Amino acid sequence: MEATTFVLFGATGDLAKRKIYPALYNLFLDHKLSKSFTIIGLGRREWSDEAFQAQVEQSLHTFSRRSADDSASIKAFIKAFRYSVMDVERIEDYHKLLQVVEQREQELHLPGNRMFYLSVGPEFFGKIAASIQESGLGSAKGWKRLIIEKPFGHDLKSAQELNQELGKAFKEEEIFRIDHYLGKPMVQKLDVLEQSNPALQDIWTNQYIANVQITASETVGVEERAGYYDHVGAIRDMFQNHMLQLLMTLGKNDGRISKRQVMESVEPLLKENVVNDVVRGQYTAGSIQGKPAAGYKDEPGIDPCSTNDTFVAVRLRIDDVFWRDIPIYIRTGKRMKEKSTRIVIEFKQPFKRSYSAQERTAPNLLIFEISPNEGVTLQINHKDLPNKGVTSTIPVDLHFNQSGEPEAYENLIYDALQGDPTFFAHWDEVELAWKWVQPILEAFEEDLVPLHHYPAGTYGPDASDLLLAEDGNHWWFDS
Ligand code: BG6
Repeated sequence: MEATTFVLFGATGDLAKRKIYPALYNLFLDHKLSKSFTIIGLGRREWSDEAFQAQVEQSLHTFSRRSADDSASIKAFIKAFRYSVMDVERIEDYHKLLQVVEQREQELHLPGNRMFYLSVGPEFFGKIAASIQESGLGSAKGWKRLIIEKPFGHDLKSAQELNQELGKAFKEEEIFRIDHYLGKPMVQKLDVLEQSNPALQDIWTNQYIANVQITASETVGVEERAGYYDHVGAIRDMFQNHMLQLLMTLGKNDGRISKRQVMESVEPLLKENVVNDVVRGQYTAGSIQGKPAAGYKDEPGIDPCSTNDTFVAVRLRIDDVFWRDIPIYIRTGKRMKEKSTRIVIEFKQPFKRSYSAQERTAPNLLIFEISPNEGVTLQINHKDLPNKGVTSTIPVDLHFNQSGEPEAYENLIYDALQGDPTFFAHWDEVELAWKWVQPILEAFEEDLVPLHHYPAGTYGPDASDLLLAEDGNHWWFDS
């Protein structure tokens, strides 16, 4: 790992404490950070370096996956941290920051590699990027890179504007857009599982696949994010980014097509037809794991007349030689029955009739469990001897031992520091995803799609089941 100055905007924020410091600490313990590494935290509050270091240490005790009890390691890690006050609107503060950065680069004999991590609201991205440029912070002797978090825009137009602003200060290859789903270990393993196993590769086509189901269900509700969530809904918060990135990752098909090509090939929806392929849902009161849960409109901070979507289910098709005619169903929602992100591939049943007149066999399923558990399961049919020898299904299970596995942010920060863009959302993908989603946003806006309600603690509205039933299918594992 090259020696780097890591400049963190939003250093006193929640994401920094929960994810970024623990990730850096675990990289440090794994010797994945250069010995000459410095982190300059920026925030509005007036803090000394010592007060900042104490906050970072506290966050490690609370959120690190590995114990932060080894005082020698903690001490060595913490001493890399410095703090500087920053009002992102004031150019003087960037000049001051430049002095701090240059001073650290001299002290540590750093080669001038600068990583700027914007853990702040997207409304500040353009201003910060421009000020980095204007102040000279961006004229590093080594490389410069930018890490940003979603949301990348609110719709196609705002995303394009944002990208243009960033593009004035950073080249595309210098921008690392985090989509934390791409950092999930199981998503990172998908590639190799498919590409290194010819048996899987060969069946990864419309000749064998009947349909694909991608689910990201959550049990949590809107939590303390009403102000944000009530304006974005599930379609922008989860679908446009995480769900479509999962689709692109799955669709790559052994590297024969790229993620961009997958997204380009998704058959476009017309606004007038959104109603046929998209289900919009919102939770009402119910109960989750035995505990009562309020309805969305009764959540603190939510407009009591809100028509915001907390659930979406979408049917789409990829018009590509490998994927053509395979219905792909994607759903995501809050306050559902269980927390689970998974991909289910249902295979065709060519022997349905010829196998045996008396026996009905279930289709083979290949299931990728992404989180909270990780695993791959192949569901096959077998002869159940203790049960009168009937044919029934049995899972062939491979569950990964997740202990000791790096978390998403560790993988992603490490890759960005290495300059490896593989598991980041590239602009062309983000833009294509917005283009695809745009008619849905408009159809929701114009109320062309009914809002279906579902009680908290269920698998979403009935309309989501009907969407699959129209094709003679059903969601697997809703029980
Ligand atoms: C975030 C969304 O990007 O992903 C949240 O903003 C959502 O609303 C979260 O809860 C889900 O992430 P995970 O890793 O828990 O599935």
